[in-house]
Amino acid sequence: MKKRIAVLTGAGVSAESGLGTYRDNGGLWDSYDPMEVASIEGWYRDRRKVLDFYNMQRRKLSEVRPNEAHRLIAELEKDYIVDVITQNVDNLHERAGSTHVVHLHGEATKVRPENSFNEQDGYSEKNVFDIGYGEVHLGDKAPNGSQLRPHIVFFGEAVPKMEQAIELVSRADIVLIVGTSLQVYPAAGLYRYAGEGVPIWIIDPAEVQIHDPRVHHIRKVATEGMKEFIKAL
Ligand code: APR
Repeated sequence: MKKRIAVLTGAGVSAESGLGTYRDNGGLWDSYDPMEVASIEGWYRDRRKVLDFYNMQRRKLSEVRPNEAHRLIAELEKDYIVDVITQNVDNLHERAGSTHVVHLHGEATKVRPENSFNEQDGYSEKNVFDIGYGEVHLGDKAPNGSQLRPHIVFFGEAVPKMEQAIELVSRADIVLIVGTSLQVYPAAGLYRYAGEGVPIWIIDPAEVQIHDPRVHHIRKVATEGMKEFIKAL
């Protein structure tokens, strides 16, 4: 029976692909106020600003490729049952070949109607459209006549896939955390659902704030840290 690995990733796993992180020096939140471009209040205050921010994110995404860390995570599927649970809204895990990716904070390439959003309606695929690296502008409407919005979990909104993520982490035999500052809840608390004695590996060049006896910290960038992690398996 193959062992299960839950891989929790953040912006750091995509840093070496050329996508910015959020909170490192020069990160995205140094140039943009998340409360203006990535919050539900920001959306109602100025939809155009939010639409432009994600149009820019999609444009950047079309210019980058998965890096060695994404590929090594995908290759784990040869020997393990791998659940990637990512805070990232990019599609690099999928493009590297990962087949089970849960996007806790949504997906940049997808849009949905801004109203009639509820668990069933908003998250059922019938209401979510993949526009790839295209743009959405004010006045672009969904079939139900309402404005199209990014299929992103804005600050101030619930994280509908959290229960699914908790279930996957609680069943894991190994938990691997790559490239997240663990500052945004509830995603940041996910590792705590790992079972008794389950090893928690963290790959991050920075100091980590978790002081848990189960933690092994590989203090390297994702592409190097993944090679070390695989050797240690
Ligand atoms: N390899 C591995 N880790 C890296 C690398 C790298 N090359 N470069 C940076 N890191 C690490 C940083 O040390 C930091 O711990 O990646 C982490 C990036 O942290 P953040 O920028 O806060 O990104 P993240 O944790 O994904 O943010 C979580 O915040 O704004 C919201 O919704 C947004 O999903 C995002 C969430």
